[in-house]
Amino acid sequence: MSRDVTTSQEPKYVVEDLIAEDIDAYLDVHQHKTMLRFITCGSVDDGKSTLIGRLLYDSKMIFEDQLAALEDDSKRVGTQGQEIDFALLVDGLAAEREQGITIDVAYRFFATEKRKFIVADTPGHEQYTRNMVTGASTADLAVILIDARKGVLTQTKRHSYLAHLIGIRNIVLAVNKMDLVDYDQATFEHIVADYRAFAKEIGIVDFVPMPISGFKGDNITAHSRNTPWYDGPTLIDHLETVEVNSAIDQSKPLRMPVQWVNRPNLDFRGFSGLIATGTVAPGDKIRVLPSGKTSAVSRISTMDGDQELAVAGQSVTICFEDEIDCSRGDVIAAADAPPEVSDQFESTIVWMNDEALHVGRSYWLKLASQMVSVTVLEPKYKIDVNTLDHLAAKTLELNEIGVAEISTDKQIVFERYEDDRPLGGFILIDKMTNATVGAGMLHFSLRRAQNVHWQALDIGRKHHAGLKNQKPAVLWFTGLSGSGKSTIANLVEKKLHRMNRHTFLLDGDNVRHGLNKDLGFTEADRIENIRRVGEVAKLMADAGLIVVTAFISPFRAEREMVRSMLPDGEFVEVFIDTPLEVAEERDVKGLYKKARSGELKNFTGIDSPYEAPETPEIRIDTTSMSAEEAATIIVETLLDGN
Ligand code: ADX
Repeated sequence: MSRDVTTSQEPKYVVEDLIAEDIDAYLDVHQHKTMLRFITCGSVDDGKSTLIGRLLYDSKMIFEDQLAALEDDSKRVGTQGQEIDFALLVDGLAAEREQGITIDVAYRFFATEKRKFIVADTPGHEQYTRNMVTGASTADLAVILIDARKGVLTQTKRHSYLAHLIGIRNIVLAVNKMDLVDYDQATFEHIVADYRAFAKEIGIVDFVPMPISGFKGDNITAHSRNTPWYDGPTLIDHLETVEVNSAIDQSKPLRMPVQWVNRPNLDFRGFSGLIATGTVAPGDKIRVLPSGKTSAVSRISTMDGDQELAVAGQSVTICFEDEIDCSRGDVIAAADAPPEVSDQFESTIVWMNDEALHVGRSYWLKLASQMVSVTVLEPKYKIDVNTLDHLAAKTLELNEIGVAEISTDKQIVFERYEDDRPLGGFILIDKMTNATVGAGMLHFSLRRAQNVHWQALDIGRKHHAGLKNQKPAVLWFTGLSGSGKSTIANLVEKKLHRMNRHTFLLDGDNVRHGLNKDLGFTEADRIENIRRVGEVAKLMADAGLIVVTAFISPFRAEREMVRSMLPDGEFVEVFIDTPLEVAEERDVKGLYKKARSGELKNFTGIDSPYEAPETPEIRIDTTSMSAEEAATIIVETLLDGN
């Protein structure tokens, strides 16, 4: 081999001279380097911290804080390079990660002469699927670490599966601790063969195996003389030269999710965002999705002035030749190769929240710059990431991965995740807490979404309400069992009826004998109960009726979902505020007694939660007024101004 073979730990890339001489020049060079994002997968025992430490150490450790200091005030900060003791650095990294283990992924920045790197160090333990998914979601490459003494473990398989699932197509199989197996070629090759068999099973077509020692530095920055039989690249060589996603993304058709509309004055109207894939130049024909309107690009402006060409990974503002509608959340695409639009999908979901997925509940789905309401159907199956078996599932718990159909309340612009990560990957957000509770990947649009069209009708809700000479409304009663909902709702309907209003009362106990007789009182069933009742109430309001509903409806999320289905002001939340002690004391149906004795499970207020409204339109304190008085107040409030 003609290559320079050494085990030296001499830093290969010397940048400190440039930093010392000319900060601006250094930063300039730095800014124009390509960036590789990668993750390291493996447990603490596999030597992950040591390897990361080695990379930072050997590449002269330009840490994020140092770079920030440089960029902030151009202070002359030399790199600390060899002054930091390698062992100390590694200990520090390990300790830091152990403390942060449940919280987050640690991102580290370092650079060589050729490239900048962001490495996401993700804890390896089984329950940290979520961390790994977070770290992997933007990565170009994954380093799968294997302890040469142990070979391919269940954990190796899980990490590989997740990395592949997330769409990482560059895999490095780093067989570490080669020093502890005497740099034995047969051991290395045996592990590689093992891994190859498994990789094939999950669809990994290619990977780059390397015998390394993070601790000793073999094959990290320089070829090791301990492995003369290995003639592949060193780790740093590979990281510096592997093709990054942004290069691949540029060869795809144009997609740019619009982040905001830029209109500083009447003469300028531009659409700003990050180009997800493809390239764009003035004159290019574009199509705005979901509307499908077309135009051509008149101008591309950036922070550095107007451009003749912009490519994937750049943030730009695009102007059109025509005044077509385009707003935040829309996607600008190549006119002749537009992405698909749909509202029903099959997807893989990784659940990341302590509270399990609620099938049927409305969550926010964020995909690129689009934000819509979504409900998830019962999973088709969940995946045991250790064995790859498909298991039956009613829901997804923390760190579980499953395949489920989802449906959004509006059409969204998307791509299959395997074709395009930015437009195929989404996150799920809890509407009440705003926490990110899941991440997902779209497989495809369901054919039924394409075949079921919304029928435009000539007689609409205005006509129905007009004929009845009233303003439709949904008086949504909520409160504990025995709080008095049905009694008061009944009086309200009687009063309205006497006033010639067209009404309809939907009552929990009654609806549960018909439409919802298949539902019980688990959280999932209650969510479905309210979803159906909400849809029925909406249809009735569309028909021009004043609808009165009397359901416990214990969850805020579902009440808010019904609210969002109706025009502003039509949903009137009536909280029948009877304390548990009072409802229990009354115990009209004898159910509290049964619940207390354990005969009746999942009883609201006893062993099933009730989330009281925070800002209901009407709150009725049944301990201080009669049902009659309550009904009068409700009717007056409803008709106030109508
Ligand atoms: S909800 O929670 O899904 O909104 P809904 O209002 O339809 O409940 O039904 C509540 C009624 O079902 C109660 O008034 C009570 O008569 C009866 N019921 C039977 N089992 C339960 C239970 N476990 N929890 C609450 N209500 C129950």
